Amino acid sequence: MYSKIKKNNHNLNEKEIKFIKNEKKKYLHSRSAIIEILKFIQKKRGWISKKNIIEISNILKISACDIEGVATFYSNIFRKPVGRNIIKYCDSVVCYINNYDLIVKKIYKILKIKKGETTNDDNFTLLPVCCLGKCDKGPVIMINNKIYSNVTTDSIIKIIEFYK
Ligand code: FES
Repeated sequence: MYSKIKKNNHNLNEKEIKFIKNEKKKYLHSRSAIIEILKFIQKKRGWISKKNIIEISNILKISACDIEGVATFYSNIFRKPVGRNIIKYCDSVVCYINNYDLIVKKIYKILKIKKGETTNDDNFTLLPVCCLGKCDKGPVIMINNKIYSNVTTDSIIKIIEFYK
């Protein structure tokens, strides 16, 4: 959960720059440091801006495209402001067979957002992910760090209510 939203004043501060340089020293290849650096910066800022990517790229001496590739690959790295609660739903094969789409449609209806969007009050962001690792218990969603299995169109109402 993020206590501050839409925060990201873009320019990296001294502490962040120092962290990046230290991480860089830990590895033979700077590329290995990218994910820890992105996590560190996101923790305070809530998301990673384009400007941050360029700044990291300049320090690591890796192309911004490469860093962008890592940032967009990991579903826990956000490239634009997100809500205080992140709802992730699994859209992989087993959850598909178990009608995950009914759950997602219900979420659309309750929160009036579609995938990738954030509610007007900045309380929820809805994101698809490829698997949440509970394939025998689909449909599965995760809100922040909590997993919900065997979600139904009824239970999703109560689950979301809890985070309102
Ligand atoms: S297929 Fe949905 S959790 Fe793995």
